[in-house]
Amino acid sequence: MNARVVIIIGAVLLSFGAQRCNGQEVSRSSAWTRTTISGQGQPKGYVQFENYCSMCHGPGPGQPGTMALQAKYKGAEPALLADRTDLNGAVIKAYVRNGISIMPIFRKTEISDANLDLIAEYLTRNNKK
Ligand code: HEC
Repeated sequence: MNARVVIIIGAVLLSFGAQRCNGQEVSRSSAWTRTTISGQGQPKGYVQFENYCSMCHGPGPGQPGTMALQAKYKGAEPALLADRTDLNGAVIKAYVRNGISIMPIFRKTEISDANLDLIAEYLTRNNKK
C-alpha cells in the first residue's frame, strides 16, 4: 500500500468520525429512524425519541404505540409516552431492548446505550424528583 492510498483511507475514516453523534445527532442506521429532526431548543433526548420512537408513539391518529397505550390505560396514564411521568429508566430500557407486541427489539447496533440513556432521560424529564 503506498502513502497516497493510506492518506485517502485516513481522510475517509476521519470524515466518518466527524459525523458521529454529539448528543443531538444520531446515526441513522436503523430502518426505524426518521430523517432530519432539529433538536434546537428541545430537551435532551428529544431528537433520539423522535428518530426512533415517535413513528409509533407520536401524537395524531393511527400511531400504533399511542393507540395501544390508550387501550391499555384507558386514560389513567397519558397515551403519549412523552407525556408520561411514571416511567423510569430501567423500565424504558427493558421495553426497548426486549420489545413488546408489535414493538420491535432495538439492538445496541440500532440504538446505542448512549442514545437509549438520552431517550430515557427525555421520557423521565417530567417525573417528580
Ligand atoms: C413499531 C412501533 C413501535 C416503535 C417503533 C416503538 N414502540 Fe414502544 N410500544 C409500541 C406498542 C404497540 C406498545 C404497546 C404494547 C402493548 O402493551 O400492547 C409499546 C409500548 C411501549 C412501552 C410500554 C409502556 C407501558 O406503559 O406499557 C414503552 C416504555 C415503550 N413502548 C417505549 C418505546 C421507546 C422508548 C421507543 C423508541 C426507542 C419505542 N417504544 C418504539 C410500539 C412501538
